[in-house]
Amino acid sequence: MPEELPWWKRTTVYQIYPRSFADSNGDGIGDLPGVIERLDYLAGLGVETLWLSPFYDSPQADFGYDIRDHFGVAPEYGTLDDARRLIDEVHKRGMKIVFDMVLNHTSDQHPWFVASRSAREHDKRDWYIWRDGRGKHGERPPNNWRSMLGNNGWHRDGESGQWYWASFLSFQPDLNYRNPEVKETMLEVVRHWLRQGVDGLRLDIFNAIFKDASFADNPFSLRLLPSAENPHGFFQRNVHTIDHPDTLSFARDLRRTVDAFQDPARFLVGEVFGDPTTLRRYCGAEADGLHLVFLFKTLRMRFAGRGVRALIREIEQAFPEPLTPTYVFGNHDRTRLLQRLDGHQQKAKLFATLQLTVRGVPFIYYGEEIGMEHYEIPLVHGLDPVAVRHRKLPQWLARYLGRAGMLLNRDECRSPMQWHGGTNAGFSAENARPWLALHPRSALTNVDAQERDPASLLHCYQGLLALRRQSRALNAGALELVDDLGLPRAVVAYRRVAQGDVALVVLNFTSREVPLCLEVQDGALLFSNRDASTTPFFGRYSLAPYEGVVVSFPAPEA
Ligand code: GLC
Repeated sequence: MPEELPWWKRTTVYQIYPRSFADSNGDGIGDLPGVIERLDYLAGLGVETLWLSPFYDSPQADFGYDIRDHFGVAPEYGTLDDARRLIDEVHKRGMKIVFDMVLNHTSDQHPWFVASRSAREHDKRDWYIWRDGRGKHGERPPNNWRSMLGNNGWHRDGESGQWYWASFLSFQPDLNYRNPEVKETMLEVVRHWLRQGVDGLRLDIFNAIFKDASFADNPFSLRLLPSAENPHGFFQRNVHTIDHPDTLSFARDLRRTVDAFQDPARFLVGEVFGDPTTLRRYCGAEADGLHLVFLFKTLRMRFAGRGVRALIREIEQAFPEPLTPTYVFGNHDRTRLLQRLDGHQQKAKLFATLQLTVRGVPFIYYGEEIGMEHYEIPLVHGLDPVAVRHRKLPQWLARYLGRAGMLLNRDECRSPMQWHGGTNAGFSAENARPWLALHPRSALTNVDAQERDPASLLHCYQGLLALRRQSRALNAGALELVDDLGLPRAVVAYRRVAQGDVALVVLNFTSREVPLCLEVQDGALLFSNRDASTTPFFGRYSLAPYEGVVVSFPAPEA
């Protein structure tokens, strides 16, 4: 373990979905000044890095993941000055800030695409992926490739009769990275925001950037539905549309671009899908690719000690130093954590203890710290374009798929942040109409109420985040799973070790009390998710159901 790990390997990240976080002007839509007003809350919570989902100029057909101008701010979110002020205010509080970057595609309203589709001869034509169709009149798509949502990803354009490719929705045409001008322009977009002082970028559907130049059909597969850990599906193996070797080499180009910015160092985190071994390839054979990738397998982690231990082992094997794993429990596309735990607060506290003590960068989704739940909204009422596409599906099927991890109405995990128990929960002015309805439980589950309750989930997160910042073992130490304490298999234990600092984490996934006996002198119970206070530890302790503890010891003499 090197003496000093770069900050981004030790940090904790909090994701803000700006549309739903805080509305400063009463138009019902969260905005950048609203985020600025809440920075003291975030600093008090103790998260170190903020990641904001896109707020660039956009027609908002996919709520910002359809960018129309990479250099501008959508008026409903504020102005460029607000974006600059946000960066400054975050830095003033000693935190870092990460912006979202959609490199793979643009909005179909982007002037580049408008120009590209205007004529075959236009010099922007080749900025996107255009092909002639098959069949006598080109009436059949160029090949069998499917989008990530399962439909044919080729869309025919009336004017020229050619087809353009979109990995996601039809209004999000993919850029053509085989055109060097496109690649250079997008690298310049990246540099632009780093020059503005942004500390990192989150890269949207990064695994789709390069498509195979042969345009050969994807092979048949029996697999029906893709998942975050296995993106093949809809009866094909997407060998020509995702995880292309050229995407992996582009990851290295980006790394060089970003590493040219120092003091402070910056980082990239990629949204990629697959098992940990596939994901690791994005970080580069020499750790010279993306700094971090999301490990979405953690999103589906079941509340069971054996499975958790197996997953930690798998992640440790796939992401040994100098690589750093990530622990992601929620985001703006997925089922919320508390939902997956059937609303069980103590279980959520145990998962939080795991997430904030394990080796890797934790990503906390806004509201997770107060246990915000889904707001189940029928598909027919969904604003999310994915819900709109699936609105004819029966609701029971949507619910079933949501439970299996495939959320079809992403509005459900994007309901506004719950700040207090009053009208509109402090998200928006009382007389405003929030863009999505507040969760009915906001009167009970909100920041105000949890700040007043020392036993709340919020206090548990605060305690863990504070401990992690102070404890070198927790923020920078190596991880060793501990199997020799005579504990039941459903109790997970690991040691975090950094020079001069050792912490033992024990997580009781059972609903029973479990005795913990350690042969130690001079230990200290640094944290328990039952009660965040520090007490001396004399070797014997009774773990309550779902209790997680962190115990520290003086380092053994070298
Ligand atoms: C990513 C984003 C998602 C968006 C999609 C298309 O998966 O997280 O919200 O809709 O990419 O950009």
